[in-house]
Amino acid sequence: MSKALVAYYTQTGNTLKVAEAIYEGLPGEKAISPLVEVESLDAYDLVFVGFPIHNHNIPKKVQDFLKKVPRGKKIALFSTHGALTGSQLSREALEHASVLASEAQLLGTFSCRGRVPYSVLEKLEARPEHRAWAEMAASARMHPCSMDLEEAKAFAKWVQAKGTGKK
Ligand SMILES: Cc1cc2nc3c(=O)[nH]c(=O)nc-3n(C[C@H](O)[C@H](O)[C@H](O)COP(=O)(O)O)c2cc1C
Repeated sequence: MSKALVAYYTQTGNTLKVAEAIYEGLPGEKAISPLVEVESLDAYDLVFVGFPIHNHNIPKKVQDFLKKVPRGKKIALFSTHGALTGSQLSREALEHASVLASEAQLLGTFSCRGRVPYSVLEKLEARPEHRAWAEMAASARMHPCSMDLEEAKAFAKWVQAKGTGKK
């Protein structure tokens, strides 16, 4: 019997919402946990790893986790970000994550926008070099929305089916 784990890192709760939707969408045996509390991946056949983009990068704790994913482990990556969906930044973060976990067998990736705290936007808007980014990221305020969460659920089902050869 296969078992899936949804491991996530979150600071302001957006990635947790997506992680919960993925968990909900998964059929069969499953678990959900903050990534920092995961000690071993041995019990799991499929591992979803989720994270936010911070300062154009993957948080250090997530990087360390990805580097330790065992060879051949089936994984799927998901992220949330203030940048526009499909933007270069959102794609590059997932590509970077897949390189860090290059020993693993990557089954799929998913990302959506996540609300950026007003206090962060305000600070960035005050700095000319970040103003354009902050203005763009302000439009993420409604995300993750119900449609994002529906898509995350569909993603979970598709990855799970792919992992068990039922695609
Ligand atoms: C300190 C900080 C830095 C951020 N830097 C970026 C960034 O470089 N690019 C981006 O697209 N979003 C950035 N964001 C937005 C977050 O990626 C987005 O809000 C995400 O959904 C947060 O996830 P969380 O609620 O799970 O922590 C930043 C947010 C914070 C708080």
